[in-house]
Amino acid sequence: MSNITFTMIKPDAVANGHTGKIIDQIIQAGFSIEAMKYTRLSTEMAGAFYDIHRERPFFNDLVEFMTSGTIVAAILKKENAVADFRTLIGATDPAKAEAGTIRNLFAKSIEANAIHGSDSDENAAREAGFFFSAFERF
Ligand code: RTP
Ligand code: MG
Repeated sequence: MSNITFTMIKPDAVANGHTGKIIDQIIQAGFSIEAMKYTRLSTEMAGAFYDIHRERPFFNDLVEFMTSGTIVAAILKKENAVADFRTLIGATDPAKAEAGTIRNLFAKSIEANAIHGSDSDENAAREAGFFFSAFERF
């Protein structure tokens, strides 16, 4: 079992001023931050990141949304990081996210759902490498 996961605070949550509260909730839940940056995705980068969803009906809307503003990307470390972080953020659809989860508190819709969390150790490693060089990780 790996001990890292990858997250992005999505454009809706950054634009709405929720970045600080979300980072605090992540730290209070026991995750440590191995790398973090503010950035904005190009269409090419968002498409590559979500390549597994390329054939889904929501793909173009997802890319448009994810390129619409600033994001905060981070690598997080904790035992059982991937599963524990998915629990912390809650269901993809905020209407179905458990009370107190990040999506329950900060997300407005299934698309503008505040935050991303890797869904497997393999994808966590791939996504972390997509955003951060070895020099940026410590
Ligand atoms: P994420 O990858 O962002 O952590 O979200 P997730 O695993 O909970 O959900 P996933 O199935 O991987 O979907 C990726 C993102 O696509 C958008 N989405 N829109 N309109 C729709 O039906 C729909 N379904 C998914 C969401 O922004 C979701 O987080
Ligand atoms: Mg996903």
